[in-house]
Amino acid sequence: MILVTGGAGFIGANFVLDWLALHDEPVINLDKLTYAGNLETLDSLRGDARHRFVQGDIGDTALVAGLLTEHLPRAVVHFAAESHVDRSIHGAEDFIQTNVVGTFRLLEAVRTHWSRLPDTDKAAFRFLHVSTDEVYGSLAPDAPAFTEKHAYEPNSPYSASKAASDHLVRAWHHTHGLPVVTTNCSNNYGPYHFPEKLIPLMIVNALAGKPLPVYGDGMQVRDWLYVKDHCSAIRRVLEAGAVGETYNVGGWNEKPNVEIVRTICALLDELRPRADGASYATQITHVKDRPGHDRRYAIDARKLEADLGWKPVETFETGIRKTVLWYLDHPEWVAHVQSGEYRQWVKAQYGAAAAA
Ligand code: NAD
Ligand code: DAU
Repeated sequence: MILVTGGAGFIGANFVLDWLALHDEPVINLDKLTYAGNLETLDSLRGDARHRFVQGDIGDTALVAGLLTEHLPRAVVHFAAESHVDRSIHGAEDFIQTNVVGTFRLLEAVRTHWSRLPDTDKAAFRFLHVSTDEVYGSLAPDAPAFTEKHAYEPNSPYSASKAASDHLVRAWHHTHGLPVVTTNCSNNYGPYHFPEKLIPLMIVNALAGKPLPVYGDGMQVRDWLYVKDHCSAIRRVLEAGAVGETYNVGGWNEKPNVEIVRTICALLDELRPRADGASYATQITHVKDRPGHDRRYAIDARKLEADLGWKPVETFETGIRKTVLWYLDHPEWVAHVQSGEYRQWVKAQYGAAAAA
């Protein structure tokens, strides 16, 4: 079996759902259920003996040690993190606690357990650390995409905390021999994405007739990857990635934010036209920029393709259509995540009118 951390969040839950659709290998899913964790996403696994959900903190050493001893997983896939850049600007404490201290404690619990395994199990064991392209900082418009050798230059409290966790993982391999692999992925989108992030926020706000808040000039560039392609990359790295290596994961889909928002508006115009016949694009509003906003990310994923034969299946056009359709088909999921906490966040970030 494998132990997944953060498997009630956006990518972790997609990973668990896909894993159990493809394998019978059981999953222990350790998640604290912060505002970003949602058991409703895992509803289809209710009563499935292959999935055991445990609510808890990766920083709870006794809990993690007990789970490792009881279940003897062959691998840990570590998704759990505080993941939203804007929240890290409002307050970084939780990011340091979970992403840095939590990852440190998880590594220590795993190392203690791993060091006591028989030699063959020790050699087969993997700690897969799921990280981000944001650790590399911002690119000039014409600079080549990030390779795995790019210097770490994190600019936000979130990316600094993820960079710190990447360094800890690296050190636990080099110093203690823990068999780790790290993936650094670009922006994901797809089903079950919490509507604080750009793509689901724009879909949800558009349908609610609210403004679509584009930060600054909207010309910041991100590389977008459909979440299920990220999950397939993680499965491939877990299966065949070389110990101690890092792999960049990306979709070869660099796009400015405003283009993403216009594409979503055009899809909604086609699939759920506004009653007044106007385009959803009329709801686009440029708002104050994010402090320290990175201008461009781009991922060079050639190593993963050359060494492990991984390629994304979705283009941005196919992935974004699936995503918009998913949100149109799941209004209850959206309504349930728009809890009191969500409204408080929207008010703090976008003002009282946006939360009304
Ligand atoms: P998310 O915020 O949707 O989910 C994070 C999950 O971790 C939640 O279920 C939350 O309850 C859980 N969690 C938080 N603190 C915890 C703790 N102390 N102990 C146990 N569980 C805890 O995040 P996501 O978007 O699914 O991202 C997952 C991972 O992938 C993160 O490590 C993130 O840095 C990385 N990543 C995300 C993206 C992206 O575009 N979303 C891209 C690249 C890498
Ligand atoms: O690059 C990978 C990273 O992608 C992950 O490590 C993070 O966990 C994930 O949250 C994401 O970070 P971003 O900051 O790029 O994602 P976000 O959806 O918050 O923003 C995407 C872009 O859209 C960014 O340039 C900011 C902009 N934006 C975002 C929001 C929420 C807006 O213009 N308006 C908004 O309201």
